[in-house]
Amino acid sequence: ALHSPSKGTVEPEPDGLVLVGKEDDIKKSQRITAKVNGREVVVFYHEGRFYALDSRCYHEGGPLHLGEIEDIDGQPCIICPWHKYTITLETGEGLYQGINPLEPSPTPRWQSKGEKQRIHKVTVKNKNVYVSPPDLSVSFDSDYFAEKYKNGGDLAM
Ligand code: FES
Repeated sequence: ALHSPSKGTVEPEPDGLVLVGKEDDIKKSQRITAKVNGREVVVFYHEGRFYALDSRCYHEGGPLHLGEIEDIDGQPCIICPWHKYTITLETGEGLYQGINPLEPSPTPRWQSKGEKQRIHKVTVKNKNVYVSPPDLSVSFDSDYFAEKYKNGGDLAM
């Protein structure tokens, strides 16, 4: 039988990987939240792939773990439930629909605002899912809310 790990007997993972759950469980639930070095992270399982992002939206801290996933131009995106910002799961880019007024009949097209939401590297090993600790030498807009909701913070809403 498996015993839950207790302090002192567990080997630290190489590279400080943080165990966030079992592969089968996350495949079933499709999403979980976890703490990685104190910050709230959401892990999605979507169409055969795992993705991890800061769970608090870079706009005003909305709960991305409660958002819907939509495919936009072939990219899976999370739609923030607060003000519907659209964020790519793979790169954390904020997308918006822009119009080029110089076109004869302007049609809105999806464009990128750049990488706004911090994404995290996911590793699956021995049926367990791990998230790498963030590289804080690079900053992202979502860091502000990650910091604000760190340690404590209510994941509901
Ligand atoms: Fe996410 Fe405003 S807080 S869109």
